[in-house]
Amino acid sequence: MAFNHKHLIDITQYSADDIMLMLETAKSFKQVNERRVKQVPTLKGFTVVNMFNEPSTRTRSSFEIAEKRLSANSLNFGGSSTSTVKGESLVDTVETLCAYKIDMIIVRDKHAGVPRKIADVSGVSVIDAGDGKHQHPTQALLDLYSIWERKGSFDNLKVAVVGDIGHSRVCGSLIPALKIMGCEVTVVAPPTLMPARPDVLGADHVSYNLDEVLPEMDVVYMLRIQRERLEGAPYPSLREYNMLYGLTEKRDKLMKPDCCVCHPGPINRGVELDSFMADHPERSIILDQVYAGILVRMAALYLLLGGSNDGFDA
Ligand code: CP
Repeated sequence: MAFNHKHLIDITQYSADDIMLMLETAKSFKQVNERRVKQVPTLKGFTVVNMFNEPSTRTRSSFEIAEKRLSANSLNFGGSSTSTVKGESLVDTVETLCAYKIDMIIVRDKHAGVPRKIADVSGVSVIDAGDGKHQHPTQALLDLYSIWERKGSFDNLKVAVVGDIGHSRVCGSLIPALKIMGCEVTVVAPPTLMPARPDVLGADHVSYNLDEVLPEMDVVYMLRIQRERLEGAPYPSLREYNMLYGLTEKRDKLMKPDCCVCHPGPINRGVELDSFMADHPERSIILDQVYAGILVRMAALYLLLGGSNDGFDA
């Protein structure tokens, strides 16, 4: 199957076939990651710039590891160590990097739309590693991969996305991606953390009551409270939020026995997710999501830089 994308900025531009190709390619990279020598020469000679202008643990480290495992050259760039602090514009910064004949820019930025702007001015492949409240498409792909591995397919899956829907860029990619793959999606949040128009996200159902929704679900995806993006106090206290919307031990009995729990990380333990659920040996697939981050990012690098599903140099 042909893969005709140069960028990964907006997951809604990807079809179910594109996403399945990404997931199958990610799965094929498991064999590289489970060897003693975890490296293949597939992207030898390609140069990838990791431009992280906002903090990151998982996304940044897994992109760097993915690049190294595919033998690409990486340049880590961004934040307060660059000449943007002297007033250099985004366009001048990108044009400077492109003068080095790079092949791809991976960008995280607090401003929505920066990855698209970079794609327009650079001419190279761009991956959005999270932009403002807009999207985080590789997060959505690794979430899909983890759910697919656990459940075997997306058919008839009921997924609840719970928490800070209004400030979440994870939602901006995850909900459309789940819908593209045919899942039934319910968003659950207090009214103050729900966007004014939740229907725009494309979910099938909107609920303000977690306990009513939980018994039906196959997957519960808990979102982090985006403290850095909140203005004012959208709920009386973290304790009250935990009581009404947190996935606590008490709620375990409301859930189907095979319902699994996802979280993009970082977790606010004791707020949206108690340690009982975060570390639950059967329910939690959070560390599977972390591992899938490497697999899916290897697949994205490989496919966007011109690989096919015919196989890679082993
Ligand atoms: N999920 C996620 O994007 O985590 P980081 O902010 O640590 O990259």
